[in-house]
Amino acid sequence: MDKIVIEGRARLKGRVRIHGAKNAALLVQCAALLTDAPSRLRHVPKLSDIGTMSRLLEYLGCGVEGDRTIAIDPAGVAAGPLEAPYDLVKTMRASVTVMGPLLARYGRCRVSLPGGCAIGARPIDQHLKGLEALGAKITLRHGYVDLKARRLKGGSFVFDTVTVGGTQNVMMAAALARGTSRLENVAREPEVMELATVLVKMGARISGAGTSVIEIEGVDALEGFDHAVVPDRIEAGTMAVAAAITRGDVLLEDAPVDHMHATIAKLEEAGVTCQVERDGMRVIGPDEIKPIDVSTRPYPGFATDMQAQIMVLTLCAQGQSLITETIFENRFMHVPELNRMGGDITVQGNSAVVRGPCKLSGAEVMATDLRASASLVLAGLVAEGKTEIRRVYHLDRGYEAIEKRLRKLGANVRRVRGGKA
Ligand code: EPZ
Repeated sequence: MDKIVIEGRARLKGRVRIHGAKNAALLVQCAALLTDAPSRLRHVPKLSDIGTMSRLLEYLGCGVEGDRTIAIDPAGVAAGPLEAPYDLVKTMRASVTVMGPLLARYGRCRVSLPGGCAIGARPIDQHLKGLEALGAKITLRHGYVDLKARRLKGGSFVFDTVTVGGTQNVMMAAALARGTSRLENVAREPEVMELATVLVKMGARISGAGTSVIEIEGVDALEGFDHAVVPDRIEAGTMAVAAAITRGDVLLEDAPVDHMHATIAKLEEAGVTCQVERDGMRVIGPDEIKPIDVSTRPYPGFATDMQAQIMVLTLCAQGQSLITETIFENRFMHVPELNRMGGDITVQGNSAVVRGPCKLSGAEVMATDLRASASLVLAGLVAEGKTEIRRVYHLDRGYEAIEKRLRKLGANVRRVRGGKA
């Protein structure tokens, strides 16, 4: 199993291009199932999660080619299993978002229930309730959900809780339903807007994406798409923290600034300079970082996927910060590892009190989930001595060749292939 080794304390300098967004690309891959026509996705990040989704599409009967640009031909799906098997769903929960497209396009499908996850229970009850509101007949058996509907019907549904995946699943299904659907209390994330943009390109009639109410007038058939994925706001936010904590000066090319207002606001509150430029955003780290309080919220609030990274910024701050996680019930798995590096963090319920500045020292640490592993890389950049991060397969799910990109900016970081877990 690979590990990442970092010799800390380098100031990051230079420019780095932000890749396409993982959480947008995954859902656009699913949208290809809504039509028989071939589709093309460009500017795709080379990540293991994208590979998993491509394997699921192939399992369903699609022809899938390429990595930076992916060509998807769904011609074989009608004769395929119309099923998302446990082995793939357990690897990546986002696999459940093939449910809406398959049900809407083929009138039935079978999807493994995802089960628990390191950061929380993450049920899919809202996905199922939303599809039932469009007329789906649902049965749960042997760890799988069976869904049937000769043709979905337009309907109204109010989500009990704001869910990105639930909104995307039901929105895709409603695109091919007979009649109009009105979805309320939906997620407003840029990844929801990106999916709606692609669906409209395919011929769907959708309004309100980006607000808390989406209306969809169903159509009988959709076309294929040719689309370049929007840059990744979470990757850009992670790189911005890397520049900030190393007192660096980095230009984030193509950073989707319009999707990052909450992150930029917190960085600026901490004394970091975020300068919007023609081709991206320049981030300059201050000599002294100020403490901040952060509470994660659905978009446009502060992203839970930036919580672990901003925690490392507060470890470097002159004073006490409070970080509250309101989206997932178990998303402080990085805290014990950061404390092993010399952090002074106390978790109380869904809040963490961070007493900065902490003099971090390099250590052998274990990645537990995608964003937790990003926070360990960031901590390694400012720690004295050597940090070794194990189980970096978590990192590879959401960051493409992060060690090469940090090295290009002047960090002393490398990947060691193989070795013990
Ligand atoms: C998406 O997950 C992202 N994943 C996550 O990013 C991100 O953390 C999350 O949205 C929140 O922003 C992808 O886009 C592939 P949710 P998703 O449904 O859709 C509860 C990363 O690091 N809920 O919005 O699974 C749920 O338990 C990943 O890239 C229900 O109760 O998240 C959670 O507490 C991690 N019932 C909350 O809603 C449901 O039916 C938000 O979950 C669905 C969700």
